[in-house]
Amino acid sequence: MTALRLADGVRATRILGIGSTQPERVVTNDDLSRTMDTTDQWIRERVGIVERRFADKDESAEDMAVIAGSKALADAGLAPTDVDTVILANCTSTVPIPNGAAPVADRIGVKAAGAFDLNAACAGFCYSLGVASDLVRAGSAGRVLVIGAEKLTDVVDPVDRANAIIFADGAGAAVVGPADEPGIGPVVWGSAGDMVDLIYMRDERYIYQEGQSVFRWATTQIAPIAIRALDAAGLQPSDVDVLVPHQANLRIVEAIAKRLRAKGAREDMVVADDIVHSGNTSSASIPMALDHMRAAGRVHSGDVALLIGFGAGLSYAGQVVICP
Ligand code: UT7
Repeated sequence: MTALRLADGVRATRILGIGSTQPERVVTNDDLSRTMDTTDQWIRERVGIVERRFADKDESAEDMAVIAGSKALADAGLAPTDVDTVILANCTSTVPIPNGAAPVADRIGVKAAGAFDLNAACAGFCYSLGVASDLVRAGSAGRVLVIGAEKLTDVVDPVDRANAIIFADGAGAAVVGPADEPGIGPVVWGSAGDMVDLIYMRDERYIYQEGQSVFRWATTQIAPIAIRALDAAGLQPSDVDVLVPHQANLRIVEAIAKRLRAKGAREDMVVADDIVHSGNTSSASIPMALDHMRAAGRVHSGDVALLIGFGAGLSYAGQVVICP
């Protein structure tokens, strides 16, 4: 039989740099309470959000992706031409053709990029990070720019108080490349398509979610998946320095942290709470939280971070990474 030649892969990968961006416009809970029946107190107590950022009409998810991707490259000390593949995690694109990744790659300056969008909703960044790492390990890509970028305000009914108070806009990115030692653990992912009706685009226009059912799923099912991701990387809960769950609701984040601590995670484990000032930005929330925590000095190079994304699908994905 004729044997095919395989590309030369590498043993290990790591995140080489990260970056993020948010729109200028800050929207407080009091701002929202002027246009819908809600209060600052309700939002703080039930969701944990104090403020979020909304993009302007002419500011797209792709615009934010270009900024976040460029920042991640600069953080890695790389030029756009040092990357050959761009993955755009996104679920709010209103135009399916063309995809977002190709024009974003071109605007960043990545030449002849392998470029594709990946839609796993709020789990999109962790899905994409897993794909990127495996592409590099298999030798199919040299370095991959992974970007999560969302303009959720385009798909949220501005007077729907259940969703308009949660969702927001932004982008976060990471550069994945070869490494001497493993810096990205195996991805653990999956979906529960039988529960797809819990979050979807109603009338192809606005996000609808059965909030309480999703809340129950996230607070009971996600921590065990995070522990599987640790196990896949050969680590214990006590090894985790930083926990970065998707920033869906601060009560969900705290419930996941509590379950991990019950399994041995340390009390001094840093837990991402970026939702407080950024809202829920779907596939952008995890890289954005990591970037903000590093800028605030709460995360340091070499820290062991456990990432876990979850959302519509219902899709989920998680992995351990060593912070750049
Ligand atoms: O990122 C993708 C994955 N998504 C998630 O993980 C979201 C998961 N779900 C949640 O985070 C929460 O379920 C929500 C934030 C969506 C809602 O919070 P909740 O604590 O589950 O509220 P609820 O829907 O059970 O509503 C409780 C009450 C209701 O009033 P009654 O029926 O008890 O009189 C709602 O009408 O709160 C009312 N309510 C509000 N009140 C003031 C709902 N939204 C608001 C609001 N302001 N914005």
